Amino acid sequence: MTAFESRLATFQATFEPLLAAEFPLASDNRVEQAARYSVVAGGKRLRPFLVRAAARACGVQDDRWLSPALAVEMIHTYSLIHDDLPAMDDDDLRRGHLTCHKAFSEALAILAGDGLQMQAIETLLSAPDADLNAHQKLKMTRCLSAASGFKGMVGGQALDIGAEGQSVSLESLRHIHALKTGALITAAIEMGCLCQPTISDAQLAVARQFGGLIGLAFQVVDDILDVNGDTAVLGKAQGADVQHHKATYPALLGLEGAKQYATELYEQAIGLLDGWQSDTRELHDLASFVLMRNR
Ligand code: IPE
Ligand code: IPE
Ligand code: MG
Ligand code: MG
Ligand code: MG
Repeated sequence: MTAFESRLATFQATFEPLLAAEFPLASDNRVEQAARYSVVAGGKRLRPFLVRAAARACGVQDDRWLSPALAVEMIHTYSLIHDDLPAMDDDDLRRGHLTCHKAFSEALAILAGDGLQMQAIETLLSAPDADLNAHQKLKMTRCLSAASGFKGMVGGQALDIGAEGQSVSLESLRHIHALKTGALITAAIEMGCLCQPTISDAQLAVARQFGGLIGLAFQVVDDILDVNGDTAVLGKAQGADVQHHKATYPALLGLEGAKQYATELYEQAIGLLDGWQSDTRELHDLASFVLMRNR
């Protein structure tokens, strides 16, 4: 385990109980059980970690990053539940467990995703006023909603499905990946920065650019891991993209070309951190993890 991975593990150990607490174990409602099942199943918790890392890089010392971190992980988990549905990627394994629709039902998986979206917004808006003022909450809600919707994750997922079996240009693929994955990763960073009420527009613009680059790199590496990863380590089926004739970077550029592209994106992202005023070590390490990860 690298030093960063052990810091991520420590983060997971503190964040996961707080996340689980949002989903009562005692609920006898099947849709709440389905949501909880997927939320507590594990996962890297990279987006919430990014919220905290960005907040810290903007000089925030306390825990006011928590509500946006919970919210982005709820949206992300909803996106995974729907991504796995038979009408989409039709996968049986997620985070090392049966996918939500396999463990419950398609109807409950759809509804669990729907409910998670709204719970994310509710959680964000319910942040204590002492942590985030109304203006910050509104800005974060707008940021998260835009990144999740038609011009973000949902829009990208629709393009991804439409590109199955098609030959797409490099530019189209970049657009699909930037929307389906980059947008939410960028939103995590932006919300972290917005935890600092005095953040400047210029700093936010750099943060967004950084997010776009590592968000895209994250999906390029996800595509690479679908080719050369290990199902047991990934917690999801390796080889699913090839099976579904997905438009991916290895399909377009070959494995080596895709790796080289991910490295270029990483280097551009790291270059942006040079101009950042405060401590960006965690963002730097996280970008390295995005590139080098095996899960
Ligand atoms: C998987 O995201 C879906 C993509 C956007 C590629 P993660 O790889 O972050 O999944 P978890 O949260 O660790 O399960
Ligand atoms: C999914 O991309 C991105 C989402 C918005 C969930 P993938 O379909 O490649 O994600 P995995 O490989 O199933 O995790
Ligand atoms: Mg997909
Ligand atoms: Mg998928
Ligand atoms: Mg994938």
